This record gives sequence, C-alpha cells and structure tokens, in this order.
Amino acid sequence: MHENRRSVEELIVSHKPGYALDQRFYTDPEVYALEIERVVSRNWIVAGHQSELPQPGDFKVLNVANDSAIIVRGSDGELKAFANVCRHRGSLVCLEAAGNARKFSCPYHGWMYDIDGNLTAARSMPEDFDNSQYALNRVSLDTLGGLMLVCFSDNPPRLDGAKRDLAEPLAIFDFENLKVAAHKDYAIPANWKLAIENYQECYHCATAHPEYAQMHTLMVDRRKREPLQKNMLGRMEDCGIRKIEIDKIDLNAPPGEMGYGYSRTALFEGYLTGSKGGKPVAPLLGDIKDYDGGGSDFVIGAFSFLLVYSDHAVVYVFTPVDMHNCKCDIYWLVRKGAEEGKDYDVDELIWLWDVTTEADKTIIVNNWKGVQSRYYKPGPFSGMESAEQMWTEWIVQELARG
Ligand code: FES
Ligand SMILES: [Fe+2]
Repeated sequence: MHENRRSVEELIVSHKPGYALDQRFYTDPEVYALEIERVVSRNWIVAGHQSELPQPGDFKVLNVANDSAIIVRGSDGELKAFANVCRHRGSLVCLEAAGNARKFSCPYHGWMYDIDGNLTAARSMPEDFDNSQYALNRVSLDTLGGLMLVCFSDNPPRLDGAKRDLAEPLAIFDFENLKVAAHKDYAIPANWKLAIENYQECYHCATAHPEYAQMHTLMVDRRKREPLQKNMLGRMEDCGIRKIEIDKIDLNAPPGEMGYGYSRTALFEGYLTGSKGGKPVAPLLGDIKDYDGGGSDFVIGAFSFLLVYSDHAVVYVFTPVDMHNCKCDIYWLVRKGAEEGKDYDVDELIWLWDVTTEADKTIIVNNWKGVQSRYYKPGPFSGMESAEQMWTEWIVQELARG
C-alpha cells in the first residue's frame, strides 16, 4: 500500500459535493466493507410481496452481499425471516431460491429446523445438548403495503414515518392486495452504487431508452412537461387517484429514519400506461376508475423504487453481490384477481422495463469499466442528476456515521 495513500476517513471528508464519487468509492475493498456495515446492513430492502408466500411453509431466500435470509410464512401464518446460516458450523441451510417446506434440513450434517426456525433434530450430539439453544437467528422483517422488507440489522431504521405517510398513496393502488405477475433478476457485473445511480437519473434516458422516452416525460424540459402535468392533474381525481406528494428524502433526516417519497408524473398524451403504444396491459388497480395518463414514483429507502401506472406496478430493488457485482430484481404486480392469459399477458406487461433494464445493464457495465481506469476523475453532475447527487451525498454521509 502507498505510504501517502489517504485513509478512508480522509477520502470521505474530501468528497466534493456536486461531483461524482472518487474512484476509490467504487474500487477500494475497505470502502466496500464499510458500506456493507454502515449502509447496506443498516437499511431496509424490499424482498418482494407478501402474496408470494401465501401458505405456511412458503419461503424465499434473499441474498445481499455476504448475508442470506430465509423469509418464510410460519406455522402461525405470520411472515418471519431467519439467517440462512446453520447453527452447527455455518453452512447455508436453504439452497433453493423459493418453494414450500415443512422443514429446512442443512445439507452439510443434516441438522433440521422447522418453519419457525427451531432446531428439531441434530444427530449424535452429546446427551446434554439443548436444541432450544440453537434456533436459527432472526432477521428483521416488516411489511409496508404488502411489500416485504428485510434489514440485516438488529437495530433497523424506524419505519413508522414511511408507514404513516405512504399508507394513503399505497392504498390508491391497493398494494396490500396485489400479486406478483412476473419477477426477473438481472445480474449486473458492476459496483452496486453505479446501478442505483443510473436508476436515479434520466439525463441518459433520451438517448439510451427510445421506448421509455416515447412515453415518459421526466427527461423533457420542465416547460414542455408542465402543460402535460397540468392535464393529468385535472384528470386524476375523476379517475380516482388522489393528488399526493411526499418528499422525505432528506439528507438532514434524523439518523435511523428511513427516507421515502411519492409523486406522480404525466406520460405523453395518448399513453395510458407503461406499455407498447401506451395500451392497457392489465385491469385497473385498486378503486381506480379510469386511466389518468400518469405514473407514480415511490422511493422506499436507499435500494427500492416503485413505479406505479394505473394498471400495474413495477418494483425495482438493487442489491450488492460483491464489490464487482450487483443484482437488480424487478417485480411486476397486478391486482390479485387478474388472470394470466385472460386479463394480462406477461410479455406485454414486462416489455417496457425489461428492454429498459437490459439497456441500462450495458450502460452500467460500461460506466464501471471506465470508472476503474487510471484516467477516471469525478465529473460534475448536471441539473438532471439531482436525485443521484443527493443519493451519493447520502452514501458519503452514512459512511461517515460511526
Ligand atoms: S453445518 Fe449445518 S449441520 Fe453442520
Ligand atoms: Fe436507464
């Protein structure tokens, strides 16, 4: 290591607001370890929708960096999360991504756990071995509008503000009663922050996403967007969509509070929803009576973003795998009673955000390649990258918090 190499503390302090992050924020293992400790493990991550696990024993596994959780509907019908780490010698217990189980049997030496995490059998252990001392460790789990949230900390940030303020916008779309019509995970060989940064700015949209740019107005000039926004606002109430705007994504939020936000933006005239040609792709959500021609954005913490049209919702979740790899999970939600083949077609439903995410994957990987070069120097953000700027500054702030 270089004698004159700055310490991580010095690197954090020297971050220049308004500029992209220094190379070492992406490439230094010491920074990555600190991020996992201070950012990733300290925040809630959306792990899907409760409708994925309707019956006792239904489970899915969430992997984030070095941690893995089994989310399971317990024998009492409640959702629970356990560390997917055997209490014997630490093997992963559950190797399947999802399914239904009556027991979880560790593949290494066969210790058995029930769906409530209790150790029920361990072969050839001493007489005085007490199973009750070796239950799987609990992982923090909560729900928000039917979305399952997991946090790999015993002291997770408070969710009461988000639960209180987002209840109303989530209720418009009856989030509690949606179902997952499709789920895809996209492996992105790049540092996880570049993927989230990319999601948060639309400076690149006009050139990179012709499909998105046809219908979404976020990347057009404010003056051009205003009349469209006004038209949508005029229609919204008649369509059964309340006008709500929430912005609790604040650098000055008290430590331990999770940031969140909600807003609705007009699509271009003639587009009813986020689909090919803007044509309806599923039955209207909640009590919505008609298409207002808008799409809502929810921000839930630092990793999870929702985009909600009048007839379906798209949930975006970004998580690190390691310093060089991350994952983007996308869930497409429709109303619970909708039937595949009759009320919606999966290919039509996922089209827009599937093509857009594939295009983003390439952009993010190219960004990652350039950022690792000796010639990379952080450049200034444009006015269209303000959300990304705020997010990077929040990361720096959290890294500085001991
Ligand atoms: S590590 Fe699980 S039974 Fe040994
Ligand atoms: Fe993009």
